[in-house]
Amino acid sequence: MKAAVYTKYGPPDVLQIKEVAKPVPKDTEILVRVHATTVCTADWRVRKADPVVARLITGLWKPRNNIPGMELAGTVESVGKNVTRFAAGDEVFGGTLFKFGANAEYSCVGEDTLDIKPRTMTFEEAGAVFFGAVTARYFLKKAGIQPGQKVLIYGASGSVGTFAVQLAKHLGARVTGVCSTGNLELVKSLGADEVVDYTREDFAKAGQIYDVIMDTTGKVAFARFLKTLKRGGFLALVGYSGFSAASMLRQTWASITGAAKVISGVARGTSDDMRLFRELIEAGRLKTVIDRCYPLDEIAEAHRYVEKGHKKGHVVIVVRQPSR
Ligand SMILES: NC(=O)c1ccc[n+]([C@@H]2O[C@H](COP(=O)([O-])OP(=O)(O)OC[C@H]3O[C@@H](n4cnc5c(N)ncnc54)[C@H](OP(=O)(O)O)[C@@H]3O)[C@@H](O)[C@H]2O)c1
Repeated sequence: MKAAVYTKYGPPDVLQIKEVAKPVPKDTEILVRVHATTVCTADWRVRKADPVVARLITGLWKPRNNIPGMELAGTVESVGKNVTRFAAGDEVFGGTLFKFGANAEYSCVGEDTLDIKPRTMTFEEAGAVFFGAVTARYFLKKAGIQPGQKVLIYGASGSVGTFAVQLAKHLGARVTGVCSTGNLELVKSLGADEVVDYTREDFAKAGQIYDVIMDTTGKVAFARFLKTLKRGGFLALVGYSGFSAASMLRQTWASITGAAKVISGVARGTSDDMRLFRELIEAGRLKTVIDRCYPLDEIAEAHRYVEKGHKKGHVVIVVRQPSR
């Protein structure tokens, strides 16, 4: 099968399109013929080993998993002997988590991170749900959002942000989205009650106090968030800056003093997430924002674009057009 492959860390050019062996599903896995996948933030960070400490997980000297890609949509080709929920021919969507391997013609996915593709979505739209929606839901759930609470999503126009705005609205929150000028209309169209243009206004000077703040950018000083967060409110640090030593110290101090309950860590998806997303999508309450589509052969170009950090929603890799 054809796959994007990299055997060393480095710039987008380390990615090559190669013929490799088709994977064989384990007893609990599903082999999916991939129609659409994405280049997400985790793909370029791992390809570049950024931050360098991530090598402890992804491979010290070279990447442990050589095919990138964390999310996909496609058709079930075959299933492992213990799989009960899927059968050959099912149209599915989901993610591979830190096994990666989705940027290929075939990929093996665990039963827990896969569901039947929403009938209202194209493969391109469905293939871009997992990474951003799972992350957004994980952090919003930890913050225990209640109807009527005021929630600020800082970085509302990327993969995580576009889903966070929609999912927070679904939970009944009053949502403010922060993004750049060109994305204000997009974020409003996703349901945000208010939008703040970070290139023109300082969200911390607007006099608002939020019950929950989610930062997807890692670009704002901790103290600026505390100024505008209700005392003891939830601060979700989604960006990897949440893992730095300085940030850890501030998080501990904020907890000790009762200033904020800080949520960081790595999101994980479950079958429960996938089922909820399918229901919301089919009810017209959750949608995927697609910025650009690239063919698999142009994956290095897609990485170059995504790494700039300003994509609107998602960048999709179209592997194969379905045959109808
Ligand atoms: N902890 C976890 O489990 C987990 C899971 C997934 C992702 N992440 C992390 O979460 C972060 C976001 O991921 P993503 O996929 O949503 O990224 P993305 O799609 O590239 O979106 C990045 C967002 O940051 C905004 N942005 C860029 N520069 C900015 C600046 N100077 N000031 C304010 N906003 C700025 C962009 O908006 P504009 O274009 O409008 O500037 C955009 O909304 C990444 O660091 C990723 O590694 C963590």
